[in-house]
Amino acid sequence: MPDRIVHAPAKINLHLEVLGLRPDGFHELAMVMQTLDLADTLHLRSTADGQIRLRCPGADLPTDGNNLIVRAAELLRAHVGLPELGAEIDLEKRIPIGAGLAGGSSDAAAALVGLDALWGLAVGPAVLHTLACRLGSDVPYCLAGGTRLCFGRGERLEPVPSGAAPLPAVLLIKHPQASVSTPWAYGLCRERRGATYLSGEEAFEQRRQALRQGPLLAALAGAGPLPPLRNDLQAVVEPEVASVAAGLALLRRAPGALAVAMSGSGPSLFALFADATAAGQAHAQLAPELAAAGFEAWCCRATDRGVSLEAAAAVPRP
Ligand code: C5P
Repeated sequence: MPDRIVHAPAKINLHLEVLGLRPDGFHELAMVMQTLDLADTLHLRSTADGQIRLRCPGADLPTDGNNLIVRAAELLRAHVGLPELGAEIDLEKRIPIGAGLAGGSSDAAAALVGLDALWGLAVGPAVLHTLACRLGSDVPYCLAGGTRLCFGRGERLEPVPSGAAPLPAVLLIKHPQASVSTPWAYGLCRERRGATYLSGEEAFEQRRQALRQGPLLAALAGAGPLPPLRNDLQAVVEPEVASVAAGLALLRRAPGALAVAMSGSGPSLFALFADATAAGQAHAQLAPELAAAGFEAWCCRATDRGVSLEAAAAVPRP
């Protein structure tokens, strides 16, 4: 089998609403997710020794069974009952780690798609979705990508009706020393807001319907201005994490910003712009202050795709 290359895009949350608690202990969510053109790359090579070897030089990441890529590989070959399948995987990490950008989830989704092709399994989209759900709440979305409504734990995907509106440009920032644990952020949300959580499918469905028919979806379809973005985790994380509060304050002063929010459980933050020129100008204007405060920054574009497999070819190893 030829080597394969898969791209694993980062995502941001255009909406993250915590509806309540589920019987499985996870939170019931109503989200709008959006993929970016900031992506990791996985280079895959088949081996016949039953070993899954992951290399990621220069990144502070586990490369053993604690890495979601390795877990995805093990899950896929266990599903097809072929333990002799092996792979060497080189990960080029570009998405900041522990940032609320679903980098690990997207890498896992990319591993499923890439190894399915590399090993010639063709398990089909339904099996990939089921395996993705077992790997993490964001992994099914990362398979699909684009602009999507995500309900349940995050795995129930619905398309966002597309319209005339072009996808926004994004200025993304993250403080390299900041990291937020996702379970901590959800735990804090439960502590602070648990008393107001909704319960029951009827109440959840009302909120889903409000999102489907609300101003954010209208704006994404080109039928109105972008409303302020809602992220319920931001409301609890911003007062606790100094770099999140400082970064949001900086982005709120960005000229031309249409909206500003934290992504996922943070600590990465973003501003949306009408186009790449506006994002670039805002970046240039804020660059001295961002650098002084120690932030890393990326000018990105929203994209309409999730993990993507390059056509099979003889490809050079990194
Ligand atoms: O599914 P994933 O492993 O990404 O979730 C990480 C953690 O985030 C969970 O252990 C849980 O604490 C929290 N979480 C949640 N509700 C969700 C998704 C994640 O409480 N819908």
